[in-house]
Amino acid sequence: MPKATIRDINLDGKKVLVRVDYNVPLKDRKITDDTRIRETIPTINYLLGKKAKIILISHLGRPKGITPELRLDPLALRLSEILRKPVKKLDDCIGDEVEKYIENMRIEEIVLLENIRFYPQEEKNDLEFAKKLARLGEVYVNDAFGCAHRAHASTFGIANFLPAVAGFLMEKELKFLGMILENPARPFVTILGGAKVADKIKVIENLLKKVDALLIGGGMAYTFLNAEGFEIGKSLLDEKISLACEILKEVKQRNIKFKLPLDTVITEKLEEGYPSELVSIDRIPKNMIGADIGPKTIAEFSEILKTAQTIFWNGPLGVFEMPSFSKGTEEIAKIISTLSATTIVGGGDSVFSIKKLGLSDKFTHISTGGGASLEFLEGEKLPGVEVLKDLAEIRKI
Ligand code: 3PG
Repeated sequence: MPKATIRDINLDGKKVLVRVDYNVPLKDRKITDDTRIRETIPTINYLLGKKAKIILISHLGRPKGITPELRLDPLALRLSEILRKPVKKLDDCIGDEVEKYIENMRIEEIVLLENIRFYPQEEKNDLEFAKKLARLGEVYVNDAFGCAHRAHASTFGIANFLPAVAGFLMEKELKFLGMILENPARPFVTILGGAKVADKIKVIENLLKKVDALLIGGGMAYTFLNAEGFEIGKSLLDEKISLACEILKEVKQRNIKFKLPLDTVITEKLEEGYPSELVSIDRIPKNMIGADIGPKTIAEFSEILKTAQTIFWNGPLGVFEMPSFSKGTEEIAKIISTLSATTIVGGGDSVFSIKKLGLSDKFTHISTGGGASLEFLEGEKLPGVEVLKDLAEIRKI
C-alpha cells in the first residue's frame, strides 16, 4: 500500500513538524559529511513553496541527558548555509518557550529544535512526550528514513496525534529499496561485504530469494570460505559459521550464481605499510590474514556486474580504511559507477568509498539509512514507515 506524501496533503501556511535524520558525522564539532542534510532539501523547498512554517526535529548521537557537544547548532548552521536562508535553532524541543516561539513563527520560517534525544522519553516512545511535541505543529512529516527502524516518540508515537505523511527523501528510499524486494529489473546482482556474517545474515537470507547472483567479499567472505573447507589462516572468522553453512546449503538449492573470492591480499599484521602479498584463495598460510580481494576476484565480480540490470551493493570488500587494502572496494565502486544498470548502495563504509572517489552522482541511489536499510531489506516492517498514512486513507480526510 503506497504511503501518502507531502504532495497528498494541504500544507498551505501550516505549521509542519518534519522529522529529519541529521545524525551526521562530526569531528571537532565540524560536520564531515552533510549528505543527510542535503538530502532533505527537496522536502524543505517544497514546504517553503507552500508557505509553511517548518519545524525540524532530529537527534544526534546517543546522548544520555543534555550533552553540550551534541547540541544541534552546527546542523542549523550547515542547513542555513545550504539553503542560504536563516535557520533558527531553539535550545529545547518542548515546553512553554518553544511553544511561544512557534506560535509567533512567520510563514517560510525554519526552526530546528534541540537534540530530541536529550529527553529519555524520546527513545521510550513516551506518549505524553509525543503529545507535547505534536502540539507544536498541524501536520507531521517523516523524512528520516535513517531512523525509520526506531519506534521512538518523534518517529512513531507522534503519529497518534497528527496526520502523518512521508517527505521526499523517505519516498525515494522506499521506492528504490522497495524495488529491490519487489520487482528488480533482471538480472539482479547483489554484492555484499563487511566484517560479520551475523550482521547481514537476515539480509542475505531475504535477498537469496530475489537475486540472480550474489557476490561476497570483505571480512565475511572468509567465514564462507572456511565453511567451504578452505584454510583461512588468521583471517576474520565469524563465530556464527553455522549461519554461513546454512546459506551455502540454500544457495545450492536455488538456481543462482554465488561467488566468493578467488584470490586475496594477505598480510601478517593489519597495519598500513606492513608487507602484503597476493595469493590464490587456496594458498592462505596459517599465520596470515586476508585483507582485500585480489585482481582475479575483481575481474570475475566485474564480469557478473556488467550483465546486471539492477545492482545492490552493501559493505566494503576489504579493510578499506587502509590504502594498501582498499583497492578491491575502490575498483568495484569504479566499475559499478560506469554501468547503466540501476545501481543502489547502502551502508556507511561503501558509501564513504564512493564519496571519497567522487562517484556519488554516478549511482542511481545512495541510501541514507544504515540500520534502517538493512532492516528494510531483511523484510522487516519499519515502525516509522508503518505509522504514516496510506494514500487511500489520506484521500478520505
Ligand atoms: C543512524 O545513524 O543509523 C540513525 O540516525 C539512527 O541512529 P541510532 O542507531 O542511534 O538510532
